[in-house]
Amino acid sequence: MRRIAVLTSGGDAPGMNAAVWAMIKLAAARGIHVIGVEGGYDGLIDGVFQDLTRALDGGGLAPVAGLDWLAGTGGTFLGSSRCPRFRGPEGRARACARLSDADVDGLVVIGGNGSLTGAHLLASECGVPVVGIPASIDNDIGGSTDAIGVDTALNTIIEACDRVSDTARSHHRAFVLEVMGRRSGYLAMASAVAATADAVLLPEQPRDAAETLDQLEDLLRRSFSTDRSKRRVLIIKAEGVPTPTLLLAEQLQGRVEDLENVSVRGIVLGHLIRGGHPTYHDRMMAGRLALAALDALSAGSSDVMAGWQANIGTRTQDPHVSIVSLSDMLTETDRLLDGTSDVTTMRMRLIREVQGVLAL
Ligand code: F6P
Repeated sequence: MRRIAVLTSGGDAPGMNAAVWAMIKLAAARGIHVIGVEGGYDGLIDGVFQDLTRALDGGGLAPVAGLDWLAGTGGTFLGSSRCPRFRGPEGRARACARLSDADVDGLVVIGGNGSLTGAHLLASECGVPVVGIPASIDNDIGGSTDAIGVDTALNTIIEACDRVSDTARSHHRAFVLEVMGRRSGYLAMASAVAATADAVLLPEQPRDAAETLDQLEDLLRRSFSTDRSKRRVLIIKAEGVPTPTLLLAEQLQGRVEDLENVSVRGIVLGHLIRGGHPTYHDRMMAGRLALAALDALSAGSSDVMAGWQANIGTRTQDPHVSIVSLSDMLTETDRLLDGTSDVTTMRMRLIREVQGVLAL
């Protein structure tokens, strides 16, 4: 292998830059040139590339100058996109032609399940080998129990919950706090336990809206009763639960008007949780997944992903990393999101048992 391309696609995730940096250094050390694709699949279709390695005068390769800040930063310096053109065969054929023109022996795609679906299609339709690395704050990628960016996002959410709890306790308030995750409730589940929330609303557990409102009203009445004397009630709601968060907070406020000194507020954390310096865990995982992805490409594999603590796939030398076929990853992703995967069942059981968080 002489030359590879790397791209980041879909929603950015903290640690994407660390994965690109690791890929550059590992490849350079093995004498493999790396080019970066700017702007995800859009940049691939338009052939917008930049060199990420350079030849040294004394022989050998090194990262291009001025990139050593990369590993510690959030976002993606290569840029990203949601690319409707890539969903059609014409767009992918153009992307494939650009890869041949760029004379690369492989492509590394760093992104979430939509981006890895694209990687799977490209691998099946194009002669160039493609390997994926899971990166998405949503943690909704089958065959990788953790994705790059999740740990950082969770730490940000927990800090936000602590801050909201400070003000909530000062005023006897209940907060409905929404976290991102698209169709996945993972961020809500995990943060509800760590932030000791009183209830969590998940898309994996669809509930009747009126029934949910009744249960939340009951929770508020019990929590703020003289018997329990709580000063804060925290309800974490996943983005994928259809009721708008601020509306839910307003409806709940209407239900507890008779309670003196108790009020309800809503807050949507939104994109705030997608930025920020990646944590140790995300940087460490980024390096190890990049190594496995490069090894897989060097061994001639294609249409696969390097997965973290995967429940499927083939183990690598690294006990935490497996190589998972992208088609198995897609099947497992569907099961993860419709709640039939063992991983989802286990997560739901844990959330009920650990800390007694009430999953509504
Ligand atoms: O997939 C990551 C994610 O942040 C989801 O949690 C969220 O639903 C979506 O991206 C938001 O997308 P955009 O940044 O395009 O609005």
